[in-house]
Amino acid sequence: MKIKNICCIGAGYVGGPTMAVIAKQCPNIKVTIVDINEERIAAWNSKNLDNLPIFEPGLAEIIEETRGKNLFFSTEVNKAIDEAEMIFISVNTPTKTYGKGKGMAADLKYIELCARQIAKVAKQDKIVVEKSTLPVRTASAIKSILDNVGNGVNFQILSNPEFLAEGTAIQDLLSPDRVLIGGDTSTKEGEIAIQALIEIYSNWVPKERILTTNVWSSELSKLTANAFLAQRVSSINAMSEICEKTGADIREVSKAIGMDSRIGSKFLNASVGFGGSCFQKDILNLVYIAKSYGLNEVADYWEQVIIMNDYQKNRFSDNIVSTLYNTVSGKKITFLGWAFKKDTNDTRESAAIKVADNLLNEQAKIAVYDPKVVEERIFADLDDLKTRPLEENKSLLTVESDPYLACKNSHAIAILTEWDEFKNYNWEKIYSNMQKPAFIFDGRGILNKKELEDIGFTFYKIGSGK
Ligand code: NAD
Ligand code: UDX
Repeated sequence: MKIKNICCIGAGYVGGPTMAVIAKQCPNIKVTIVDINEERIAAWNSKNLDNLPIFEPGLAEIIEETRGKNLFFSTEVNKAIDEAEMIFISVNTPTKTYGKGKGMAADLKYIELCARQIAKVAKQDKIVVEKSTLPVRTASAIKSILDNVGNGVNFQILSNPEFLAEGTAIQDLLSPDRVLIGGDTSTKEGEIAIQALIEIYSNWVPKERILTTNVWSSELSKLTANAFLAQRVSSINAMSEICEKTGADIREVSKAIGMDSRIGSKFLNASVGFGGSCFQKDILNLVYIAKSYGLNEVADYWEQVIIMNDYQKNRFSDNIVSTLYNTVSGKKITFLGWAFKKDTNDTRESAAIKVADNLLNEQAKIAVYDPKVVEERIFADLDDLKTRPLEENKSLLTVESDPYLACKNSHAIAILTEWDEFKNYNWEKIYSNMQKPAFIFDGRGILNKKELEDIGFTFYKIGSGK
């Protein structure tokens, strides 16, 4: 079966880049990305590519190449569903904020809405692909809705989780370590659906990197991958505190253990704590699934990854307060970076949010500079915590578009994101305009300790002992 028409529901951080790359690599397939958020679709269609809703290196170039040719952004969800032979569901699956499983389970209401809409609209057989990250066995719920609400047409469900990381999404999509496809191999229709999706990826992904499994393994592999990755960060962050107490250096330790091929060198950077929309949400979901099967020890094991991460964020802000003579009240502290990692404008679950909230509780005055995050987003992030009214946040925190201005008259600078440009600042100039003693708290370990100490800074680097 040759797919000619694809629809993707959800024009977010996954739907946008993923479908843009499919459109680029498969010029004969028409790809339509739909979303109920009109503003977001308008931004995807904006003439000025600086106004795309998502910043990802290399994305704007692909949008320019494909948009209006075989890639389309639209709010006409029904029309796109009707026209497509294959429908990707790429909507958000946030942590539930209400009812049973509140604060732990994945909220599947958007997924169910999509399934119901597909069922209502479809007049021909469709292949429905789970692209969103979902709890294991969600495909059976989707199948049940499609079969019970639908017009008697045949639906095949595939699981095709996305492993891209933000900031490197295009590179990850163009050259994935693997593509995972879960499907029903016990029926002919299931095999045909799997082959149809394999054929799409085969346009640019080597066959040996396309892995097929049963649906449940595919769904669970995505949660497992994120749990393992986050666990590495929490493990290295746990060691970072031991380094600080003992005089070891976490970067030397990371290098030493990473050279063991069984451990590997990637994902061993100590930090102020992991953020992003996936790690916390997916581990909480895994913990909830384990508990729902009565597997309490398994649940506790994975929950510790989150506990360690929360501790690392609080430890960072506590250290700032205690180093600044136990009071930051009325003192200006500059945040360099607000995004959860470099090369993205995404701030979801960024460590900066919790660190700022802790320092605002101590009545610090915070100035933030981030090269890609806009002011409204920063205040919205703080507002979401509901710790204090918006006006109070606005009176305590300012957002600057010039890093030198952001650092002027500060008592301390905190590095919250590892943006490359921070390494190349004129640190002598920054030092001369700061209050003395001038402190730097490097939560990403990107600055050179000796150079900064030579200038006169009192320098703290995460995971670096005295
Ligand atoms: P997102 O919030 O950026 O985008 C989701 C979009 O879906 C939103 O624009 C929303 O308006 C739209 N939407 C919701 N319900 C809809 C409906 N009924 N009809 C049409 N549109 C609807 O989310 P995201 O970051 O792209 O994540 C999507 C999924 O992919 C999640 O399950 C996430 O866990 C998973 N994932 C995310 C990443 C990542 O790096 N962000 C990586 C891998 C997997
Ligand atoms: C993650 C997974 O990597 C990706 O496969 C999945 O599809 C979505 O979730 P993402 O959250 O976009 O991707 O970025 P990632 O590079 O994994 O970083 C997550 C967080 O961990 C960031 O805050 C990052 O700064 C932090 N991190 C990562 C560290 O602190 N140290 C590291 O060594 C690596």
